Amino acid sequence: MTAEARFAGSRAWHERASSVLAGGVSSQFRAFGVFHPMHYTRADGARMWDVDGNELLDFTLSQGPCILGHSHPELVARVQAAVAKGQLFAGQHAEEVLLAEALQRLIPCAEKLRFTSSGSEAAQACIRIARAKTGRQRILKFDGHYHGWLDSVAWNVAPPGNAGDAPVPWCAGIAESAAADIICLPWNDLDAVRRTMDAHGQEVAAIITEPVMCNQGCIEPLPGFLQGLRAICDEHGSALIFDEIITGFRIGLGGAQGHYGVTPDLALFGKALGSGFPLAAIAGREAWMAPLEAGRTYHAGTMNGNNACIAAGLATVEILERDDALRRIATLGAALRDGLAQLGAKHGIALRVQGPGPMFHMGFSTLARATEFRHVAADDKAAYHAFCQAMLLEGVRLIERGLWYVSAAHTEDDIAFTLAAADRSLAGLPRT
Ligand SMILES: Cc1ncc(COP(=O)(O)O)c(C=O)c1O
Repeated sequence: MTAEARFAGSRAWHERASSVLAGGVSSQFRAFGVFHPMHYTRADGARMWDVDGNELLDFTLSQGPCILGHSHPELVARVQAAVAKGQLFAGQHAEEVLLAEALQRLIPCAEKLRFTSSGSEAAQACIRIARAKTGRQRILKFDGHYHGWLDSVAWNVAPPGNAGDAPVPWCAGIAESAAADIICLPWNDLDAVRRTMDAHGQEVAAIITEPVMCNQGCIEPLPGFLQGLRAICDEHGSALIFDEIITGFRIGLGGAQGHYGVTPDLALFGKALGSGFPLAAIAGREAWMAPLEAGRTYHAGTMNGNNACIAAGLATVEILERDDALRRIATLGAALRDGLAQLGAKHGIALRVQGPGPMFHMGFSTLARATEFRHVAADDKAAYHAFCQAMLLEGVRLIERGLWYVSAAHTEDDIAFTLAAADRSLAGLPRT
């Protein structure tokens, strides 16, 4: 059956959606699609079903959140029980405290926490706290890192130019005035950070970084890079902010800060924390959270701490910890990552498969190892797109920008199934 026939129902829904939803979607990241944006009816464990009845083995995990797999029965039961008692008290409740206590125990920097509803908001809160504490305005971020869609950080998300060019806004409509407050540097280049901070440190409220550059290439920090950032922030009195929206509750229960042994001043968690419910957390050292605690700066949100999200967060953390699930996810992910790399060698295709395991990135490139955004930008995107199309026809759903997520619901059989599908897909790719 042709792809057109196989996904005809999704196509029809996308056309109908496009007359009522801008671009047919609710988030820009869903606007692309391997063939076109897909419409789904159901998801269970590691699998999803689309409106055409296709069963798909899922490595998107809804862009990361569904760490336990979809519709984990215990999580669903706990969320249902929580909402049966009310949706939103807009006052405090015991489960919020229990979840905060669990996070405080697990996350090194989490001396104090706040819950919020999205990663984008959590990033803004961390930046505001850092500005309130330091009295400085500027933020240093890295090329290729994504900290949400809002104006203060939506710069050099995928810059077209060279390192050192003026920061480029992510899209039209971003406040030009925000450019004055942002400094963008290539990642993993400690000398560049040192030079910039020596010149401008007194203006910099915070350095914000994904501790693993998950959004472009799943690049781990070079040895000493995170430690170097820590030392530079200490020297200049700037906050070190770790954006753990992807690494948190995936690379370890203590996040990347536990994994790499570098404790930031402030951190943000989301995605896997809520298993698909809109939950994020701001975590920080007592001294850095002080402006928030004292009410000198504000973070708010009508929906924050709602019963469903907090129940989902509590269930996620308890299940991950009880079942030692992250260890299994890491083992399965590493097997999949290494298996894909071996298939590249078998077919004589230049593939770079890179990342810690629970998440990793696959790109068509002769460069064996990427250390910063521009290495990933040079990947052959058309070849990866063709691979995603072939894999979808094999019944495997992938993220088109090359990131793979493995969940607690995936099995060894799923990995074997996927590698067999990848073997056939790579064999069928046009050779240049
Ligand atoms: C590293 C990182 N930070 C922040 C965000 C923004 O989170 P949200 O989409 O929940 O606003 C994302 C989303 O993909 C992310 O990957």
